[in-house]
Amino acid sequence: MYTAEMLESIKKVEATRAQRIGVEPRRMTAEEKDALLKEFHPDYREDGFQEIKVGPNKGQKAPYELGTLLHSNSRILNVPIDLNKVDYDVDVLIIGGGGAGSSAAIEAHEAGANVMMVTKLRIGDANTMMAEGGIQAADKENDSPQQHYLDAFGGGHFAARPELLRRLVMEAPDAIQWLNDLGVMFDKDKDGRMITTHGGGTSRKRMHACKDYSGAEIMRVLRDEVWNRQIPVVDFTAAVELIKDDKGQAAGAVLQNMETGEYKVARAKTVIIATGGAGRLHYQHFPTSNHYGATADGLVMGYRAGAPLLYQDTIQYHPTGAAYPAQIFGALVTEKVRSVGAMLINVDGEAFMHPLETRDVSAASIIRECTARGKGVPTPTGYGIWLDTPMIEMIHGEGTIEKRIPAMLRMFLNYGIDMRKQPILIYPTLHYQNGGLEIGGEGFTKTIPNLLVAGEAVGGIHGRNRLMGNSLLDIIVFGRNAGKAAARKCKEVELGTMNLNHLQEYAKELEKADLHTGQVSPMLLPNYTFGMPK
Ligand code: FUM
Repeated sequence: MYTAEMLESIKKVEATRAQRIGVEPRRMTAEEKDALLKEFHPDYREDGFQEIKVGPNKGQKAPYELGTLLHSNSRILNVPIDLNKVDYDVDVLIIGGGGAGSSAAIEAHEAGANVMMVTKLRIGDANTMMAEGGIQAADKENDSPQQHYLDAFGGGHFAARPELLRRLVMEAPDAIQWLNDLGVMFDKDKDGRMITTHGGGTSRKRMHACKDYSGAEIMRVLRDEVWNRQIPVVDFTAAVELIKDDKGQAAGAVLQNMETGEYKVARAKTVIIATGGAGRLHYQHFPTSNHYGATADGLVMGYRAGAPLLYQDTIQYHPTGAAYPAQIFGALVTEKVRSVGAMLINVDGEAFMHPLETRDVSAASIIRECTARGKGVPTPTGYGIWLDTPMIEMIHGEGTIEKRIPAMLRMFLNYGIDMRKQPILIYPTLHYQNGGLEIGGEGFTKTIPNLLVAGEAVGGIHGRNRLMGNSLLDIIVFGRNAGKAAARKCKEVELGTMNLNHLQEYAKELEKADLHTGQVSPMLLPNYTFGMPK
């Protein structure tokens, strides 16, 4: 289903293929990477950001679209909510129905707490479900958590919070074991040993996978476990604001039924924000690999209540989003495709970079190739770079693609492209927020007692760039920890009188800063009626 122009370029890709097998392109030096990032990574484009004018991060920058949500008033500022009428009263309220929220729910329930999950869509409708390539853990003889730490710390530009990254890598082997014991069907060899591969920036093969639908498999098992334990899950119900008490503690949330619009009050001794990412804000007009619900709600609610953000200005653009055909524009093409041998090739059939540089470097390099160097392949939505997938079977033998990356094969076959025979076109896609709400090692925010955060809504675990497979890992490690910590904490919490005073206080700050965005936040669902948000 390629155009004539694309087919011409494919001939050039085919012409260089055999000579590329077994030859690793050179890796960039640190200086080359720095220069490349500054010139071509979207995080360095000043027009993509605005200064935050209110709240704990005042004076810092945020992506333009997130900044606008932070500069907007609450959806319920002028809605009379009767906080004396409590609809749900629990020990642990978990906002979000993805992998982090589910892991937290399971552990809090295991510890004997009275837990409830609320989710604006359904449990499992989350970025976890969309994750493909795998989950890292240093559990092989030639590897160690220390090695894992060094890879992730360097890959994140030495900005990760050491206490968070230490926890991530140290608890990784146990997280894999926990998932395996719950029933996750990891790829294993004939002796029952986990099969592990490289990801960008890894010095050891430590990526554990369930073919190329690792997140869907993990979410399947976590969701079953939540259901089997009969943990209450309130679907199609968004948290729209946090409730605090007169001691300044988190005390619950105002919920809204997404179908009827009706408001409910949930009182809780501890609250865990596990609302995931922000891809649906389409920063700098990028397409996204994210789930429909990824609209940064937790960041906005937490911020309005007084919790600071960390590294909110750093975003991950996955190097390989589908660039063609338009029906799957921005959909994730897992890094595993490169882990198993495919190279990135320009319009002239040249391998212009090592296929497993870290993600920010890879994305910037692809953008440079297409823009400054004019070596992209024109597509109806812009341009793309070839991911030379037929190489995979030349290296590993026939049947490898179907066995190792079947979801990718199916996705492109749906549009008449057989990636075993023809390369596929990719371009960077908005994938992950490296930043989020700031937490300490136990998962609590630093400013609001009894408020915890887990998963993609956390900032600081990965620094300023995340390695592949460390996100599925962090939702499990920090989700489990948040659940355990909340269950412990709720035993000593005495709640005071509930209030929503922080909404009025925030409104006054906005007024003082003369901010009038004409919007309300959190966004809850993306609005595509008027085109991409700006
Ligand atoms: O490329 C991928 O499969 C994505 C993995 C991740 O973001 O960790």
